[in-house]
Amino acid sequence: MNVCIIGAGYVGLVTGACFADLGNNVTCVDNDKKKIDALKKLKMPFFEEGLEDMVKRNVKAGRLSFTDSIKEGVKKSLVIFICVGTPPKQGGEADLSYVEKVATEIARNMSSYRLIVEKSTVPVETGKWVRETIKLNVRKKVKFDVASNPEFLREGTAIEDFLNPDRIVIGVGSKKAEKILKELYREIDTEIVVTDINSAELIKHASNSFLATKISFINSISNICERTGADITKVAHGMGLDSRIGESFLKSGVGYGGFCFPKDVDAFVHISGKLGYDFGILKAVRKVNEEQKALFVRKVEDALWIVKGKTIGVLGLSFKPNTDDMRSAPSIDIINSLKENGARIKAYDPHAMKKAHSVIKGVTFCRTAYDAARNSDALVILTEWHEFEVLDLVRVKKLMKNALIIDGRNVFDPVRMKKLGFKYISIGR
Ligand code: UDX
Repeated sequence: MNVCIIGAGYVGLVTGACFADLGNNVTCVDNDKKKIDALKKLKMPFFEEGLEDMVKRNVKAGRLSFTDSIKEGVKKSLVIFICVGTPPKQGGEADLSYVEKVATEIARNMSSYRLIVEKSTVPVETGKWVRETIKLNVRKKVKFDVASNPEFLREGTAIEDFLNPDRIVIGVGSKKAEKILKELYREIDTEIVVTDINSAELIKHASNSFLATKISFINSISNICERTGADITKVAHGMGLDSRIGESFLKSGVGYGGFCFPKDVDAFVHISGKLGYDFGILKAVRKVNEEQKALFVRKVEDALWIVKGKTIGVLGLSFKPNTDDMRSAPSIDIINSLKENGARIKAYDPHAMKKAHSVIKGVTFCRTAYDAARNSDALVILTEWHEFEVLDLVRVKKLMKNALIIDGRNVFDPVRMKKLGFKYISIGR
């Protein structure tokens, strides 16, 4: 099938590469000419496990190409996926101006039937507006369908998530659109949930919000654990074995981050308010997440007594492991608070250093975890990279001025840390 992907960001590029790998002819479009030129030279705009190889393989096979012209992509393709950003506006509302702009341009370049699919995360009823926009701008007699096919890709495992999903959701308004999308996904062995467009849009916002709720819930429980001497890892395990609850997304830490959860929770609260419903639970989820970062900073302060003038080594900057993404990473707020309190920060991350440079200022960036530990009064862990789990802790202890580790991701076993002679503070245990 001929497929056009508009927006070569995380979602668009992964989707495009995977569709090409499944044997389709894919044209990826982006208005950032620099990005397109780099992609033509097979340079990836971000790090994602397995993506570079997949892109190279499919470009070589002639199934994947890049252009900055929507016209070219629309001309060649039956199915057009909108994968442009929906960034938050002040107040949390999703900014849909890119979606509108792209929908207008698609419409102006359509000369025969096209299926336009929203893949970007959008508020419920966006499909209706996309349809209206296309209707307004398309030539008379040209037929089209609009559909919603939300992505559930996690950074770091996006390709695996695309090829082996828990489900595929397609929101459609016609049998023809359903048939085309089912055909496009025929190689993927999973349940295809077919709904109306509004329901599909809601499935995405509701899923991400529910996952964020699980995280804030377990973080709240971790605060009760700390006050009672209970152990959050054991509590979460005991809860998670109940099949109605499930073990995933019950890891307490310094709060969720990334480009999706904070933005999607905000947007869902906003659209709910606009529809006349005050989504109180989600407001609390957001509040708990902000508090969790502040509580962690307080932990560091309590452990150091005076923060001013102290050197703090920070291990982990990306919002989660196996990605270089710094967007809404808890590390940003935590480091800024510690800096405001007068700490000197030495930071290290296995992959996110380059991106961290542009979002975190006034910090010494180190080349290794051991460099960050050297002469520090405390070591703080903010992302659970595997590299940290296998650190030579005897060496770390020798390098540090003071054997104090405050672990925001529960990477180490407290008993082992005590045996090694560390003062070890973690989350909820
Ligand atoms: C998320 C959704 O999982 C995905 O389906 C959607 O399409 C995009 O948003 P992603 O942003 O890549 O994916 O990250 P995810 O792996 O879901 O983690 C989000 C955040 O939650 C991270 O900051 C992570 O550290 C945190 N988290 C996750 C926890 O604090 N505890 C957990 O148990 C799980």
